[in-house]
Amino acid sequence: SRESWLPTLKTDTPEEGYELAVKLARKAVGMTQPDESIRKKLRPVYASNADSLTLASQVVAINFQTVAAANNYWKE
Ligand code: HEM
Repeated sequence: SRESWLPTLKTDTPEEGYELAVKLARKAVGMTQPDESIRKKLRPVYASNADSLTLASQVVAINFQTVAAANNYWKE
């Protein structure tokens, strides 16, 4: 069977949790637009637009809230 791309939300550190939040955001883009050539074509568009980058950051921030909660905010 195929390995899960999201076996757990648990991470050892907040930094790894943030990287997971980015991964979740990019996975959603890959699922909503499976055509790599279209994604590559759109990359320079969003990469040079401040509002697009702010929105991408916002999606990551929302995911980070979920990941942080799932890790009990990395409290001992
Ligand atoms: C690259 C994040 C939306 C297409 C990247 C990279 C990050 C990122 C961090 C750099 C990865 C690296 O250099 O290793 C995000 C986030 C998004 C988002 C957080 C939205 C929440 C999109 C959308 C598209 C897209 C909407 C196109 C439809 C790409 C492509 C690359 C890329 C093609 C690779 C560029 C290259 O080959 O250098 N993205 N992205 N991304 N993104 Fe996004």
